[in-house]
Amino acid sequence: MRWFGGPAMARANALAGRWMAEAGMAVRVDAAGNLVGHMPGSDPVAGTLLLGSHLDTVRDAGAFDGPLGVLAAIECVERLRGRELSLPFAVDVIGFSDEEGLRFGTAYLGSRAVAGTLDAATLETSDAHGVTVREALAAFGDGAEPASRRGEDLLGYVELHIEQGPVLEQRGAAVGVVTAIAGATRAEVRFTGRAGHAGTVPMDLRADAACALAELVLAVEAAARAQPGLVATVGRLAVAPGAPNVIPGSAEASLDVRHAQDRVREAAVAALRERAEEIGARRGVALGWEERLSTPAVAMDARLGELLAAAVADRGQPDVRLPSGAGHDAVALSELTPAAMLFVRCAGGVSHQPDESVDAADVAVALDVLDGFLRRLAERVSGGR
Ligand code: HGY
Ligand code: MN
Ligand code: MN
Repeated sequence: MRWFGGPAMARANALAGRWMAEAGMAVRVDAAGNLVGHMPGSDPVAGTLLLGSHLDTVRDAGAFDGPLGVLAAIECVERLRGRELSLPFAVDVIGFSDEEGLRFGTAYLGSRAVAGTLDAATLETSDAHGVTVREALAAFGDGAEPASRRGEDLLGYVELHIEQGPVLEQRGAAVGVVTAIAGATRAEVRFTGRAGHAGTVPMDLRADAACALAELVLAVEAAARAQPGLVATVGRLAVAPGAPNVIPGSAEASLDVRHAQDRVREAAVAALRERAEEIGARRGVALGWEERLSTPAVAMDARLGELLAAAVADRGQPDVRLPSGAGHDAVALSELTPAAMLFVRCAGGVSHQPDESVDAADVAVALDVLDGFLRRLAERVSGGR
């Protein structure tokens, strides 16, 4: 498990950094702990293309969500070097430091730092030990290496990532071009009731925080089942003090709500908050509701997408376009520069657990597509189009 600023992240940065150096790139870690490998272009005014994905993981993760995109980008640079081919534009391969948001309940800390969109509220968010994002960035990042980039210096951002869903497998396609990424809201919900003796407090005199939360969890599921295209998840639950013979005085949970249309997602989140308030009032427990992240649905860049689709066709693959229900660093980067994504089929669409897997032949296709994309982009840039 690689969480932001943890020892495993430092090891991942060191290992992937070594591979970047072996591919001939200049390697640095920026102020947000992102690993950055730089390959210069032949034309100093042609700008920089960003490639990459994230190196952090969820808990009990698979091996490909994130790292596949970073290593694929490094391999593409390696291939160019092997052919002694230089591109007119520079390429920066980035291994983002915190896309999953495991430590702080947020997401995209690394890519938001690059986009320059890390807000003050996020910077003051604390982890379970009271360490703020700001403190963690200072501890893990290299303050001498600014993370934020200027959009005018960039050609765009392209991310190769496993699909984490079943569509490519169903369509019999190795790769697909992403059209859009669903919007997402993440919140921390807490009910505070009254701890008490499990044996002596009559049921009608209890303010049981766990029961309030349990009622809300089922309401979250029911709301998502009732609304087409809405997904809502309570991924983490905790009750305190956590003793079998003590009525829980407090109970907290994470909430993750997503939909392709922002107004549907926002309405669902508002309705769930109202329901939580009603549950708390009826049960005599206080509600705490802290929104940690709200990202809009974003469309991927059509021009870069068409270049990816042309490279897919060059490789003799079917033209599959699909939206992403999963969030990606491309969400944060799309505020800075045109962003595009190439999905790779993954077995059973399984992800965020150790059974996550890809077929090497599909990855080989994806690498050829990314390689072909770079050539097409180089032709476009050289041709001044
Ligand atoms: O949660 C997501 O959608 C992504 O894996 N961070
Ligand atoms: Mn993920
Ligand atoms: Mn991911």
